[in-house]
Amino acid sequence: MKDNFVVLVTGASSGFGKETAEYLSKKGYKVYGSSRKCINGEKRGLFTMVNMDVTEEESVKDAVNYILNREGKIDVLYNNAGMGISGSIEDTTLEEAKQIFETNFFGMMRVTRAVLPNMRRMGQGYIINTSSIGGIIGLPFQGLYSASKFAVEGFTEALSKEVKGFGIKVCIIEPGDFKTGFTANRRYVKNSGEGSAYREAFIKNMNFVECEENNGCEPVEMAKVIYKIINTKNPRLRYKIGFKSQKLAASLKKFLPERFYEDMVIRFYS
Ligand SMILES: NC(=O)c1ccc[n+]([C@@H]2O[C@H](COP(=O)([O-])OP(=O)(O)OC[C@H]3O[C@@H](n4cnc5c(N)ncnc54)[C@H](OP(=O)(O)O)[C@@H]3O)[C@@H](O)[C@H]2O)c1
Repeated sequence: MKDNFVVLVTGASSGFGKETAEYLSKKGYKVYGSSRKCINGEKRGLFTMVNMDVTEEESVKDAVNYILNREGKIDVLYNNAGMGISGSIEDTTLEEAKQIFETNFFGMMRVTRAVLPNMRRMGQGYIINTSSIGGIIGLPFQGLYSASKFAVEGFTEALSKEVKGFGIKVCIIEPGDFKTGFTANRRYVKNSGEGSAYREAFIKNMNFVECEENNGCEPVEMAKVIYKIINTKNPRLRYKIGFKSQKLAASLKKFLPERFYEDMVIRFYS
């Protein structure tokens, strides 16, 4: 184990981030977790919090500098902070679409850019970005969420090639359904209420999706995968986590005829 590693986990107040920050700090790593609702240096069990809103450039820089000033380095960045917005694409305003990209995509990009100079100078580091099964399959009524996670996929693939020569390892994690705060924190687009042409289908879809999430896997699975990655010299680019059935369903996309596969997804979510 690389026990002198300094780890930054974004979105460590809940769900995957909290579980991973706790798990890695119990394993002996120096862990900093971030949230918009904490003060710098606040202790949460064995790990330390830093205040960070990933949608604000200055907030990200301040949080990263706070850690660098104390530790001199960040060896692992786990870009986890994220949110969900649901609703049909027609009902989603550009403003709502931009909000989700500001957190899930540009937020991840801001933190990545803030840690890269230090990792590059050290000639080492792990950057682990959170996608989703929704970053592999365009999920109905979660179109903007899926779009933000497809963007994370493309960005991360490109980044891994650019920074390989600096000794920085880059990975994407693609979770299926997990029991976290994500379901309760998900927002619905404003126009999805009465008057939406999609309302009936949307409600049916959301009831199904939220039931799957509430009966999903335990987030400690994420913590174990992150631990495995940072203890692997040459980690894979992608890691799928969750129920076997969901991992298989996502993997089949590569092999089945496209229209057949898409119809299967429509039937599954109807
Ligand atoms: N749960 C699932 O089934 C599932 C499946 C696939 C992918 N994911 C992905 O997993 C990641 C973590 O989600 P989760 O399931 O653990 O959900 P969660 O329990 O709702 O946790 C989300 C975390 O993100 C942080 N966050 C949200 N907006 C932020 C912002 N603007 N700036 C800084 N932090 C922000 C929250 O911190 P504060 O509110 O304290 O600031 C919180 O700690 C997300 O990227 C999500 O898309 C989840």
